[in-house]
Amino acid sequence: MTKRVGIIGFGAIGRTVTQAWLDAPVAGHEIASLLARSHQVDEARALLGDAIRITADFDEFLANDLDVVVELAGQPAVRDLGTKVLRAGVDLMVLSVGSLASQAVFDELLAAAAERSVRVLVPVGAIAGLDGLLALRRAGLRQVVYTSVKPPQSWKGTAAEQALDLDNIKAPTIFFEGSAREAALKYPKNANLAAAVALAGLGLDQTSVVLIADPGTKENIGRIEAEGAGSRLQVTVAGRSEPSNPKSSQITGVSVLSALENDAQLIAFA
Ligand SMILES: NC(=O)c1ccc[n+]([C@@H]2O[C@H](COP(=O)([O-])OP(=O)(O)OC[C@H]3O[C@@H](n4cnc5c(N)ncnc54)[C@H](O)[C@@H]3O)[C@@H](O)[C@H]2O)c1
Repeated sequence: MTKRVGIIGFGAIGRTVTQAWLDAPVAGHEIASLLARSHQVDEARALLGDAIRITADFDEFLANDLDVVVELAGQPAVRDLGTKVLRAGVDLMVLSVGSLASQAVFDELLAAAAERSVRVLVPVGAIAGLDGLLALRRAGLRQVVYTSVKPPQSWKGTAAEQALDLDNIKAPTIFFEGSAREAALKYPKNANLAAAVALAGLGLDQTSVVLIADPGTKENIGRIEAEGAGSRLQVTVAGRSEPSNPKSSQITGVSVLSALENDAQLIAFA
């Protein structure tokens, strides 16, 4: 049976996801609804056509017999709309994983999911290796460090601006070291992967995060270094960012499509 997908957000990743879907449809799935901002509705309709319900009205978006809603919109959307999606009996795939660093949001979402026996899903996003962390966790994970390196411009508009002069640094500079929970709360638009790594591994308080601005790179680079149970895990993913949002990596949107297609979201809370 074809699964009906609702997408929240038509920003950098929303556009990438819908365009990539048109280029290569996701097997066994169809986009049924898109929740966009009102000023984006015409552009979205021009791209996606009339067969998909494109609206700025959340109730209209949701009342379309959906099987899964994919959030590509930001932490406020998870907070404001996530429980409504789950209470409607619909799985919720969260891309703004940093929102789960708030214990209150996390607990509320899980309670709503349990009420209706549906799931909160976390796709792998712009990293890899969460499967290895999940395996090591079962066997005895001892240490996990997640390092995020981005060009200085990608850190503009964040708390990094208070920590260093982004326009004038000449060498890679560490401006944050702390727990994944602190990173997700202080850098909400950048720390989704820190939160995903933490949820797969040692949790938000025991996972170490290092954030670096590097004037020598044009790429966003995410690195996991973990050890435990007689094993070491090292994973690096490097790639270009979305042209319209330098904080987001291009691979992120594609990871959502493969998560749906392969039913391979790596963390599922039921
Ligand atoms: N997990 C990961 O690997 C990963 C990687 C990159 C980005 N992200 C996260 O994914 C999210 C989307 O990223 P982006 O680069 O597309 O951001 P973006 O700001 O370019 O796009 C978000 C869009 O959603 C819209 N939006 C927000 N709330 C909405 C609502 N209630 N209804 C309709 N539209 C709404 C915004 O107006 C905007 O157009 C961000 O939270 C980002 O932090 C996750």
